[in-house]
Amino acid sequence: VSLRTYNTFGIDVKARLFARFASTDELRALLALPEVQQAAKLVLGGGSNLLFTKDFDGVVLRNEIRGLETLSSDEASDTALVRAGAGESWHALVQYALDQNLSGIENLSLIPGTVGAAPLQNIGAYGAELKDTFESLEALETSTGHLRTFTRAECGFGYRESVFKGPLKDQYIVTSVLLRLHRKHRVNISYGAIGTTLADMGIEGEPTPQHVSEAVIQIRRSKLPDPAEIGNAGSFFKNPEISQHKYDELKAQYADLPGYPVPGGVKVPAAWLIEQCGWKGQRRGPHGVHDKQALVLVNHGGAQGSDIQSLAQEIIASVREKFGIELHPEVNIM
Ligand code: EPU
Repeated sequence: VSLRTYNTFGIDVKARLFARFASTDELRALLALPEVQQAAKLVLGGGSNLLFTKDFDGVVLRNEIRGLETLSSDEASDTALVRAGAGESWHALVQYALDQNLSGIENLSLIPGTVGAAPLQNIGAYGAELKDTFESLEALETSTGHLRTFTRAECGFGYRESVFKGPLKDQYIVTSVLLRLHRKHRVNISYGAIGTTLADMGIEGEPTPQHVSEAVIQIRRSKLPDPAEIGNAGSFFKNPEISQHKYDELKAQYADLPGYPVPGGVKVPAAWLIEQCGWKGQRRGPHGVHDKQALVLVNHGGAQGSDIQSLAQEIIASVREKFGIELHPEVNIM
């Protein structure tokens, strides 16, 4: 089976076996098949955070569990619980929340991928992260077929991190996610560009969640390539954290180096480091570095995953040489 249409980079590799499931029962039945039990397994949602570098000699399991519902009907409460099936598109959940007049995830508008993939890397953008509204999730243990609930604390969320990328990697398949959203709107416009975009939109006074969503969509469209047009997986690298000492040293040399304080040091934008190394907008035939956001690697059509991986390695080496900082991929390289 070709996986070209199942990954947003648009890489044309093959999987030996491919199956879809639309419920936990269907998933259990699949996992009970001997050919599935013996094979390496890859659960695919939107395929928006991975780079295939070779054919996958195993079974791809596509999560198509649907469903969007508001659980708490108590209108007097300040919050409401919303449950979403793991196979729903993340943005469909954002739109559902806005339709229900609930706030909390509008800053995460238009992030590609599925609901089930969101907790794996604690998706984040424009001043918000999934963990801010996350209540719990249900996941099926691959080896036993048992369904287990994970609270926020049990998910071990960090910057683009969770327990499902660490100690529990490949052991559980997320089937649904529960969020606690606000009936009393709490919009977050801490990210500078949201304010300027709202002003450009002519919004004065307290913006609604819908306004914030529209502003975020406008910002994303201006910087990030639409995977339907240009293959990409969003940020290719994480923003590195360095010590305050290292930051001060670099700042003396590069006065305009941006930095955001984090516990234990300073987070610096990888996009800035990559742009300083001259990579922004560079093209190597069918692949290259996006011209409006240096953190995004792109496939203009026909690139091999291994070409993109080599480009990523060259970028890592040049940032290491110029700044002494090690970049780490944010996408999963298969
Ligand atoms: N910058 C440059 N050159 C560029 C782009 C950015 O120098 O080409 C510098 C600027 O100083 C800018 C700073 O980098 O102020 C931050 O840029 P931006 O706000 O675009 O965000 P980012 O740090 O590059 C992160 C997330 C994005 C998320 C944005 C917005 C990571 C790995 N990436 O990118 O998430 O949308 O913030 O909050 O943390 C993703 O994870 O796939 C993703 C797109």
